[in-house]
Amino acid sequence: MLANEIAPRALADLVRHGYWPGQERIVDAYGRVVTYLRVSLTDRCNLRCLYCMPPEGIPWLPCKDLLSFEEIVAIVEAAAACGVTKVRLTGGEPLVRKDLPNLIERIARLPGIEDLALTTNGVLLASCAKDLAHAGLRRVNVSLDTLEPEKFRRITRLGHLDEVLKGLEAAADAGLAPLKINTVIMGGLNDKEAPDLAGLTVKRDLEVRFIEYMPLDESGGCTRAGGTIEFVPSATTREHIESVLGPLQPLPSQGEYDGPALRFRIPGARGSIGFIGAMSVPFCERCNRLRLTASGELRSCLLDGGVVDVRAILRSGGGRNAVIAALRRTAELKPKVHQYLAGAFHGAMSRIGG
Ligand code: 5AD
Ligand code: SF4
Repeated sequence: MLANEIAPRALADLVRHGYWPGQERIVDAYGRVVTYLRVSLTDRCNLRCLYCMPPEGIPWLPCKDLLSFEEIVAIVEAAAACGVTKVRLTGGEPLVRKDLPNLIERIARLPGIEDLALTTNGVLLASCAKDLAHAGLRRVNVSLDTLEPEKFRRITRLGHLDEVLKGLEAAADAGLAPLKINTVIMGGLNDKEAPDLAGLTVKRDLEVRFIEYMPLDESGGCTRAGGTIEFVPSATTREHIESVLGPLQPLPSQGEYDGPALRFRIPGARGSIGFIGAMSVPFCERCNRLRLTASGELRSCLLDGGVVDVRAILRSGGGRNAVIAALRRTAELKPKVHQYLAGAFHGAMSRIGG
């Protein structure tokens, strides 16, 4: 192939890293290319959000079952060698994992990793945002479902709103940008607050993303909440925001890194608003991700599809090629569209990594 036929990014990779990911990218059975790996660092959390965990928590995985930093780095390195460019660290709550900046530093310097992000509840962020940025973290998504202190307590059961607001400030000060806020909309709980949360974007350069509640519970509802959480479709949230703040301007797609959010702007605002309609508008067609759970399972899909135990592969002496084969096998297990409506129990969100 002539040089001018090579995509500019692939050519840049070839020059920079000495390999050309395009040669051996991970492609699934439907032609989707995997460029994004979500890595859950722990199933533990310092909160107990209504939609995620029961008040007493879930039985934590024993430490020996968690992947070590060495194992995580080996898996991310193998993924990067076949074209994964974006990594997101999740949990549980990733900031409860000890010595996290050390892991971030090691992942950030792997050839091919262009984007390293983290999803956090923000409780511990004020104390470590600078260290994380210094270690090479690019940006954070912070979960925040309400701006009312009492309601925050009710939703998270253990948290203080103040801590998270301080965390957001610290993240902005540390240059972890663009800063994103994840809000799960729950009917009768925080749905009426959507315009206030959207309003945060007027003066600040951040993105508030409204996420549809996904009932992952055995019951199909959410017994964890001690009642049922009412599902609100993204379209309804958008209509509600527009009825208060006026029409939103659609924003153009940002290409490969756009992810599943449909993005808008309040006219004249500095920041943006996103809607993630995971349930009502499945984005499977554009899905470019694999997931690695805290216990070392590669999952082909959040809601569906098969898993491959990569921890067993590593702990029985498998090297880089065996991990690459596991990544490819997981991609082949990706369903075309998730069969959520089949009603299966999908496992705890805090174990899979949100
Ligand atoms: N439905 C939708 N989003 C969820 N999250 C956790 N549980 C659920 C659920 N049942 C989201 C949180 C957090 C991320 C880690 O996962 O909002 O931002
Ligand atoms: Fe913790 Fe996130 Fe689950 Fe809340 S949603 S309990 S912050 S893992």
